[in-house]
Amino acid sequence: MAVPDKIKQEVDKLRQQIEHHNHLYHTLDTPEIPDADYDAIVLRLENLEEEYDLQTPDSPTQRVGSAPLSQFSQVQHELPMLSLNKVFDEADLLAFDARLKKRLDNEKEIQFSCEPKVDGIAVSLLYRDGVLERAATRGDGTTGEDITRNVRTIKSIPLRLKKLKPGTLLEVRGEIFLGKQGFSRLNEKAKVEGSKIFVNPRNTAAGSLRQLDSRMTAKIPLQMYCYSIGLVEGLELPTSLSETFKTLGKWGLPVNSDIGIAVGIDACLEYCLDLLGKRNSLGYEIDGAVLKVDEHELQQDLGSNAKSPRWAMAYKFPAEEKSTKILDVEFQVGRTGTVTPVARLEPVFVGGVTVSNTTLHNMDEIERLGLRIGDTVLVRRAGDVIPKVVKVIQAEKNKKPKKIKMPENCPACGSAVEKEGEVLYKCSAGVICPAQQKESIKHFASRTAMDIEGLGDKLVEQFVDEDVIENIADIFTIDEGQIADLERMGKKSAENLIQAINDSKETSLARFLFSLGIREVGEATAAGLSNHFGNLQSIISADQESLEKVTDIGPIVASHIVTFFANQSNLDLISKLRSVGVNWPDIEVSDQQKPLDGQTFVLTGTLEIMPRSEAKAALMALGAKVAGSVSKNTSCVVAGPGAGSKLTKAEELGIKILDEGEFLAFLDDLT
Ligand code: IVH
Repeated sequence: MAVPDKIKQEVDKLRQQIEHHNHLYHTLDTPEIPDADYDAIVLRLENLEEEYDLQTPDSPTQRVGSAPLSQFSQVQHELPMLSLNKVFDEADLLAFDARLKKRLDNEKEIQFSCEPKVDGIAVSLLYRDGVLERAATRGDGTTGEDITRNVRTIKSIPLRLKKLKPGTLLEVRGEIFLGKQGFSRLNEKAKVEGSKIFVNPRNTAAGSLRQLDSRMTAKIPLQMYCYSIGLVEGLELPTSLSETFKTLGKWGLPVNSDIGIAVGIDACLEYCLDLLGKRNSLGYEIDGAVLKVDEHELQQDLGSNAKSPRWAMAYKFPAEEKSTKILDVEFQVGRTGTVTPVARLEPVFVGGVTVSNTTLHNMDEIERLGLRIGDTVLVRRAGDVIPKVVKVIQAEKNKKPKKIKMPENCPACGSAVEKEGEVLYKCSAGVICPAQQKESIKHFASRTAMDIEGLGDKLVEQFVDEDVIENIADIFTIDEGQIADLERMGKKSAENLIQAINDSKETSLARFLFSLGIREVGEATAAGLSNHFGNLQSIISADQESLEKVTDIGPIVASHIVTFFANQSNLDLISKLRSVGVNWPDIEVSDQQKPLDGQTFVLTGTLEIMPRSEAKAALMALGAKVAGSVSKNTSCVVAGPGAGSKLTKAEELGIKILDEGEFLAFLDDLT
């Protein structure tokens, strides 16, 4: 069928428009049009291509994937895809620099391109005449697999490069990965749909790239960063890698904006340490930094050996996932009596620390993991997050693996363990259980509660075990003579501790409320209660309804508060604390309007400057409600790095979004 010129022109224009918006959205993160408008353009193009039989491999409509292949075909890399030498410490990095200078026979400081080592899958993209012709995995470095159809579904990878003319050949290499946000969104969806949870971003990315059905790949929001060039024909490229990156960016290819330049190895080390420091807040996972001699001419002089270039080095960071063995599962009793399974692990160095035990949260989690004692498991510790058992890698070979069972009796006091609600198990003894005593005293004395310096977890355990104290009020009746002779104590430390205990008596209502350990009353809720009621008696006498009027308090938290103050032994404890001198100033509660009255804020992602609890307290003091999820009633979302589905939802609903800097300025203006 002859296609009218007008249609051909429209199809061309639509393709350009779509790729332009893909680039803005997926590479530059600065979309210009609403999603609905974008969808409308795509739909128009799909219809025209269908009607006039105009589908081509480089059309953006092909990004949705196509019918399954029976197998991948092989691809020979004309230039081998090398790997990197690696070092793990500063001394070896300095030695690398010394080797380079020696080989170059020049003491001049070398300029390096410093790059995050993105944890993904290496790929090669071949553009002929500016059009993506072939994408391949690295394979063994010489032979890879043709994954073109899968790679075409990745929206930040241009199907056609801007400005590249016929007669050119360009091979770009880089890393395909799944960002943290994309990964958590996938898992949120999997949870809702009850489908399999993805273990980590790297495996998910690798698995989806090796799908024979590219429609499956299209469902995973993969991304790519380019990091080097392979074959080049008919093109003049800049003389350095850093300039080449700029050129690639101009052609529409995705280049990581966290790449830097450093002159001399000391500056490289600074880059590495800085990158390690912000590892958590990056939107993608890294396993180190890559340092590359920047000038192409120097790279040529240094050359490569069979496996890796001499001009590049990976500086590896501690792994965030390692395998280890479950030695045992024990049960711990918390301050409210909840009995929690804790895994004892064969010690493993992961995420920069040695981990030898970790919480398994509840029995459902054990069931979900299919965990047995003796299993080899994958443990993950990213940033400061508590270590987590991600999955069983190898089940215990033992013929009769030990099933993990909730004990019938509390491991601390022997009272019956009772099931509460769907997943919780609790010790039925209440405050006479020594484990509950210890945990509630530890919480009471902790830095964010009554802040009793020197009364740490170990000492609390010792005091309870040796019958020095039984409850939080007893802390204030300890005398020096009673403790000076205890093991690890001595006169001076006893004196200091008594002083610290006395100092802690002057406190605030918010701290005091928090330190009582009422279920689900954290720092921010305690601050909210304190600001709303102003004095303790009003909180004690408040009913469910008036408690629910407080910002951030819903029916469940309100009922925990009512239950707590309905318990006479809690009221007796409070009287004792007051009678030994624990005090705080009451707060004047005004009926005056506050600047953020009636507004609901949501905090998401990592806040890097102001701790989240402080941000929450500041908002609540200004009258705002701080909610955990985004809805059409949300007034504003504060989004830090790593923000996921909440940010997306806010964007979809057109809700005001502030980054942390803007948020701090906003608070400044109001206070
Ligand atoms: S350069 C000729 N740069 O690390 C040098 N690799 O262990 C080839 N990787 O196979 C690699 N980020 O998959 C380079 N900025 C980066 C990288 C990077 C991640 C991966 C890549 C490579 C592996 C080498």
